[in-house]
Amino acid sequence: MNFKQPISSFSPISILFYALIMFLNFTTISASENETDHQALLRIKSMITQDPYGALTSWNSSVHFCEWIGVTCGKRHRRVTYIVFRSQGLEGSLSPHVGNLSFLHGLSLSYNSFQGAIPHELGRLSRLRLLYLGYNKFNGVIPANISGCSNLEGLSFSFNELVGSIPKEISFLSKLTFLSLQHNNLTGGISPFLGNITSMEVFSVASNPLGGSIPDTIGYWKHLQIFYSSSCNLSTTIPHSLYNLSLLTNLSLADNQVSGSLPLSIGAMLPRLVCLQLWGNQLTGSLPPSISNCSRLIVLEMTNNKFSGKLKIDFSKLRDIYVINLADNLFRSNEDDEMKFIDSLKNCTRLERLDLGNCKFQGVLPRSLGNVSNQLRYLYLEDNQLHGNLPSSIGNLVGLEILSLESNQFVGNIPSTIGNLQKLKVISLKGNQLSGPIPETVGNLSMLLYLSLSMNRLEGVIPSSLGNCQHLLELYIHNNKLKGKIPTQLFQLSSLSIVLDLSQNNLFGSLPTEVGDLNMLSALDLSDNNLSGNIPSSLGGCTSLSWLYLKGNLFQGTIPPSLSSLKGLVALDMSHNNLSGQIPWFLEQFPLEYLNMSYNDFEGEVPMLGVFSNASAFFVLGNHRLCGGFVELKLPKCKDTKNHAKRFPPFVIAILIVSAFFTITCLSCAWYKNKRKSQAPQSTMSHEQFMKVTYNQLLKATDGFSEANLIGNGGFSSVYKGVLQEDEDRFVAIKVLHHNQGAQRSFMRECQVLQNIRHRNLLKIITSCSSIDFQGNDFKALVYEFMPNGSLHDW
Ligand SMILES: *[C@@H]1O[C@H](CO)[C@@H](O)[C@H](O)[C@H]1NC(C)=O
Ligand SMILES: *[C@@H]1O[C@H](CO)[C@@H](O)[C@H](O)[C@H]1NC(C)=O
Ligand SMILES: *[C@@H]1O[C@H](CO)[C@@H](O)[C@H](O)[C@H]1NC(C)=O
Ligand SMILES: *[C@@H]1O[C@H](CO)[C@@H](O)[C@H](O)[C@H]1NC(C)=O
Ligand SMILES: *[C@@H]1O[C@H](CO)[C@@H](O)[C@H](O)[C@H]1NC(C)=O
Ligand SMILES: *[C@@H]1O[C@H](CO)[C@@H](O)[C@H](O)[C@H]1NC(C)=O
Ligand SMILES: *[C@@H]1O[C@H](CO)[C@@H](O)[C@H](O)[C@H]1NC(C)=O
Ligand SMILES: *[C@@H]1O[C@H](CO)[C@@H](O)[C@H](O)[C@H]1NC(C)=O
Ligand SMILES: *[C@@H]1O[C@H](CO)[C@@H](O)[C@H](O)[C@H]1NC(C)=O
Ligand SMILES: *[C@@H]1O[C@H](CO)[C@@H](O)[C@H](O)[C@H]1NC(C)=O
Ligand SMILES: *[C@@H]1O[C@H](CO)[C@@H](O)[C@H](O)[C@H]1NC(C)=O
Ligand SMILES: *[C@@H]1O[C@H](CO)[C@@H](O)[C@H](O)[C@H]1NC(C)=O
Repeated sequence: MNFKQPISSFSPISILFYALIMFLNFTTISASENETDHQALLRIKSMITQDPYGALTSWNSSVHFCEWIGVTCGKRHRRVTYIVFRSQGLEGSLSPHVGNLSFLHGLSLSYNSFQGAIPHELGRLSRLRLLYLGYNKFNGVIPANISGCSNLEGLSFSFNELVGSIPKEISFLSKLTFLSLQHNNLTGGISPFLGNITSMEVFSVASNPLGGSIPDTIGYWKHLQIFYSSSCNLSTTIPHSLYNLSLLTNLSLADNQVSGSLPLSIGAMLPRLVCLQLWGNQLTGSLPPSISNCSRLIVLEMTNNKFSGKLKIDFSKLRDIYVINLADNLFRSNEDDEMKFIDSLKNCTRLERLDLGNCKFQGVLPRSLGNVSNQLRYLYLEDNQLHGNLPSSIGNLVGLEILSLESNQFVGNIPSTIGNLQKLKVISLKGNQLSGPIPETVGNLSMLLYLSLSMNRLEGVIPSSLGNCQHLLELYIHNNKLKGKIPTQLFQLSSLSIVLDLSQNNLFGSLPTEVGDLNMLSALDLSDNNLSGNIPSSLGGCTSLSWLYLKGNLFQGTIPPSLSSLKGLVALDMSHNNLSGQIPWFLEQFPLEYLNMSYNDFEGEVPMLGVFSNASAFFVLGNHRLCGGFVELKLPKCKDTKNHAKRFPPFVIAILIVSAFFTITCLSCAWYKNKRKSQAPQSTMSHEQFMKVTYNQLLKATDGFSEANLIGNGGFSSVYKGVLQEDEDRFVAIKVLHHNQGAQRSFMRECQVLQNIRHRNLLKIITSCSSIDFQGNDFKALVYEFMPNGSLHDW
């Protein structure tokens, strides 16, 4: 309204008219009108129950409300035009009186904890242009009369708890350019009516169980640049009209049931693509080579579809690309130059992540692999049938943190240049046909957390240089042809806290007494070697062990009494050795779920309690001098009554043992408590490059390791997703080692967790955590951070 209109005549009618104008003007600027705003603000304040940073203390009568923090007024008419409170920790609900702020242009309450309904009174605000209520806890439905905000240009209700459908009245918002509803619980599909909003530039409904299909009418969104509808339970083909949207830069339909194939000319039709995420669908046909012309592409994620045929993308024009995820497709071609596309990666100087796992590739890795960017941090080629040698040029990829080449058919030696990859944290070469020695240079990999060389044909000795990998948590070398003694340096790796598996080799000599230094280790497997001599009594120092496998060696002598300190053992296998003496009674008190003592030379009475009371959990076959035990064992009665005479009637034994058990439990409680006071919660990592997390933080991050946050279960460990709250939220995956589950031998094998999490757009290991949980049990976990991806945006 123009308040300075000149008065040109004084006719009665015009005077009347003037009076009317004055009246209208007066009402708009009068005390009563701005008082409405004042009252509305006070009502809004009154519904806010928590204001931890005192954001609202300035909302008091000593200053005019236009000076209140977070409030902006129009200069002339002193009416409230903007309210902005972002990340203020506010809790409470949004008062319906907000609908009285009739001059409001913008309202942003993002990143607070507002709850309750989004008031339908907002629909009265016809001047409202921006409405940002994202990252709160609003629930209920999206009010249909939001369509009354006819000037709305930007609307975000993302990251709330809204249910119901997207009201089709939203399609009346003819000026809307930005609509973000991601991460709610909206259902009812994407209405074709939305196609009427021809001004649309950004549309995000990702992570809602919307269902249905993508309507053809999105072809009207000629200005569309961003389209995110990942994880929406869409079962659809991509409507052809979408390829008319030539301004599109970011397109994500990931994690739906999208089927059909991509048009060959996609690269010509969508030349501005920056981010193309179609992973986790059922797309078929070839990956169109025209993608080679999308020269602005930064992120290409096509993992887990059914794309097939030779991979013919020429990456040389995609100079800014930093993520290429093509895993879990069917790119087999039977052509000799199948892997030639790798040559074209040399221009991609920013490439950080190349994921080509489980693609059915069967070619030879070209030497040009070494010419891929030294920015490359993650290289996944596992589960293919790649053959030939590992090119030694792999040692040029000095930025690598994760290298996964497992389950292929690589032959020849492990190139010693691998020692150049000083940033490596995870390396798996398991399940190939690699031969020759383990290069000494692995000892240069001082950042390693995980090393697996299992299931190859490696020969020679275990290099003592491995003792330099002072951060190593898991080491697997099982099933090779290694010989010689176990280097004592291995036992100086105090970081080894998850698994040390040297089984199925030809290692000989005695087990060095230093083994007892591995007091953080959870699983030790030395089975099926030629180790001899006595079991060192120092082994009792490995007090964190849950799994201990010594089977199939030449160990002799008796079981040292010191092993009574391995109170956490859930599986123990000493079968097929030459051990003698008695089966120790202390085993009755261990939480054993699996005990195998068969094929030794044990003698005397078999204990009866604990694991010994469960005939399917323990094995003593092939020991010819045992007696007693439970009747099902059908062992002879113990003849030698010397022991028996000293013993008490069964019920007394039971009482004694129960009380002994209590003593032990209480002792261990006390022990844990002390330990907790002195060192826990604490991270094993002292190196400053790893951040520290506590058990408490992880508990909080995963909602108490809730079922809802479980994303993978490898038997031996489980993976949870979570949000680690630090200075800023970090989306993480947490791999937790199981303690009380899966004592079976097979469970001890490495789980497929790396793959499980790969599908979720991981990963970057940030730290490990080893501490004590609330029950006083040892707790071990690896923490990975999700790589940022196009669909988690800050709206
Ligand atoms: C209302 O606006 C008038 C005119 O600008 C001003 O004099 C008066 O102080 C305002 N009253 C309040 C409560 O803001
Ligand atoms: C009222 O707000 C002013 C301006 O922010 C502030 O200085 C003052 O402390 C506040 N008064 C009260 C009682 O909170
Ligand atoms: C302000 O809003 C409330 C709730 O919608 C309504 O009851 C009331 O009549 C409004 N007051 C004015 C002055 O518009
Ligand atoms: C919004 O719609 C509801 C019913 O859908 C109606 O009861 C209410 O009066 C409307 N509110 C406004 C402010 O238009
Ligand atoms: C989403 O809504 C459904 C029912 O409509 C409910 O069962 C489910 O728990 C909700 N999910 C979340 C995350 O709120
Ligand atoms: C909106 O779209 C629907 C279906 O796409 C169409 O039938 C309707 O006429 C359109 N409404 C307006 C107001 O344009
Ligand atoms: C996904 O949609 C299908 C129907 O297409 C439905 O049966 C299923 O319940 C939906 N799943 C979720 C998680 O909403
Ligand atoms: C795509 O655009 C062309 C020309 O701009 C038009 O003829 C065609 O109908 C459009 N196709 C769809 C499906 O919108
Ligand atoms: C890339 O674009 C050029 C020029 O339009 C065209 O000649 C070429 O065939 C395109 N390449 C692919 C692989 O589609
Ligand atoms: C690849 O990079 C080289 C040198 O940086 C440049 O000359 C060449 O044109 C690039 N190739 C393409 C296809 O962009
Ligand atoms: C890799 O780069 C080196 C030097 O930059 C070059 O000599 C060699 O030819 C390249 N190899 C391939 C296969 O492109
Ligand atoms: C588009 O995708 C790129 C690559 O993922 C990302 O960096 C950018 O922030 C995205 N843009 C928007 C507006 O989401």
